[in-house]
Amino acid sequence: MAGMISMAIMLHVGSIFLILLLLLLLVWHFSKEQEFKPFSIKYEQLSLFYKATLGSLFFTGLVVMAVAKFDVLWTVYVMVLVVLHMIVTTVKEHLAYKLTHIKDALSQETFKAYAKRKYIIDLVLIVILSAVTYAVSL
Ligand code: HEM
Repeated sequence: MAGMISMAIMLHVGSIFLILLLLLLLVWHFSKEQEFKPFSIKYEQLSLFYKATLGSLFFTGLVVMAVAKFDVLWTVYVMVLVVLHMIVTTVKEHLAYKLTHIKDALSQETFKAYAKRKYIIDLVLIVILSAVTYAVSL
């Protein structure tokens, strides 16, 4: 049982590191000056990995929760809220991307600023939440 819990937590923490790496890459990608076409090719790849990792973060969290027989601290409820927030903002951002005109420079810049802010917020939320989780469990 202890082995299962530590294995599940390892996968959960692995997903956290992976999503942090992807968020850093996304923010860095949004900060570069480049044409929208090359920007969007790389952005679509990164955002696909980001969405898959978000799913894995949710799934591994559920596995940890099930293995722990739902006997968890309040921090886990905050984790669920944060992940739900990330999913909703990701869907909104995806729709905004679809509506962005390929030739309209103004809407492209608006989208870039909006999406960059979303990813920075995700990054900050994950760092704060991880720090609080470890502080509470000390
Ligand atoms: C933004 C997303 C999330 C972050 C940053 C996050 C972060 C963390 C961290 C840092 C830990 C401690 C790992 C350790 O003990 O080494 C943890 C544990 C855990 N997480 Fe998450 N998590 C997230 C999402 C979720 C979700 C969506 C769920 C459930 C559906 C979840 C369920 C759990 C559970 C059950 C534990 C074990 C808590 C305990 O030992 O009492 N997490 N998480």
